[in-house]
Amino acid sequence: MKKLILVTGGSGYIGSHTIVDLIENGYEVISADNNSRSTPGMLEGVEKITGKKIKNYKVDLCNFDETRAIFEENEMIYGVVHFAAYKAVGESVEKPMLYFQNNLSSLMNVMRCLEEFQVNNFVFSSSCTVYGNPDHIPVTEETPKKNAASPYGLTKQMGEQMIESMAHANKNINSVMLRYFNPAGAHPSTLIGELPIDKPQNLAPVITQTAIGKLNELVVFGNDYPTPDGSCIRDLIHICDLAHAHTLALNHIIENKNKNNCLAYNIGSGTGISVFQAIKAFEENTGVKLNYRIGNRRPGDVIAIYADNEKARLELGWAPKYTLNDIMTSAWKWEQYIKDLPTHLDLRAFRLN
Ligand code: UD1
Repeated sequence: MKKLILVTGGSGYIGSHTIVDLIENGYEVISADNNSRSTPGMLEGVEKITGKKIKNYKVDLCNFDETRAIFEENEMIYGVVHFAAYKAVGESVEKPMLYFQNNLSSLMNVMRCLEEFQVNNFVFSSSCTVYGNPDHIPVTEETPKKNAASPYGLTKQMGEQMIESMAHANKNINSVMLRYFNPAGAHPSTLIGELPIDKPQNLAPVITQTAIGKLNELVVFGNDYPTPDGSCIRDLIHICDLAHAHTLALNHIIENKNKNNCLAYNIGSGTGISVFQAIKAFEENTGVKLNYRIGNRRPGDVIAIYADNEKARLELGWAPKYTLNDIMTSAWKWEQYIKDLPTHLDLRAFRLN
């Protein structure tokens, strides 16, 4: 029988791509997403790609009773992949309490249910932001965690600490914390991709929305950083490579290959590129010139970070398959596909035909 995985935040960018990957690799999936920052239409894209109907529980995971009811109704849940969280660095600097409340209480509720219903396989959506501003790059999983540069980053650091404490106290629960670098690009089918509900905050959708004319210009947040070209350095990882890491992480703990019951892995391409290099890569791949200007630094931004991904390669058997060119061309294809979308909130109104 297929193992049932609960994916929280299943309508989100990483959640939707991960559901596809899980189903393609023999898992059965249910989703929990209240669509506070996503559109239900994304799951329709998932259904088109996989040919499977996905049941979504439209619940607020900050509500314990509603969260618990999902586990009660689905006794067969074998593992949980927990994505549901807010993720905008800048917003978190302005509204820290919103981030603490939303990201931590939903995580706590899910963890309480893992214990109560003895669901022993857990994958947590963490982030390279847990390293703060590292002294040395690339970062390995052993790189000391510095102070988080934003409240968003703090919620990921605290989330990891909560999971480590649970793992210490409850040896039956196997957890994997995947520290994502910068996910970008879209599924090759162009049926799912990144769909910011408001003005995008992340670099890739800002690039594509500027290229298509939804945004007038791209503001590069600072060109006076101590980096070769003065802009920040990041590690762009194709969304499908990132999604597959979740499947491999689940396989790893379900097959009992893990030596301890709480593991952390960097999921990044292993290559650092600057914001200016990302802009150039987009222009070269698509032939579209971007209208950009230099602006102030953005509060909460880390200067430079990219992954040493050796541990994930060795232990999970994970390796990125897609290139930076694939990232840019798939992101651009997706942006062109959704350009006539009347509102970002309701992909359903748009019809994924
Ligand atoms: C951060 C986290 C990342 C997390 C993501 C979720 C760090 C180091 N990384 O990504 O793990 O998945 O939040 O949102 O904390 N930029 C511009 N102009 C723009 C938008 C972005 O110049 O309009 C620049 C930023 O200053 C930054 C880079 O592009 O240097 C990437 O920014 P963004 O895509 O927002 O991701 P991070 O903040 O790196």
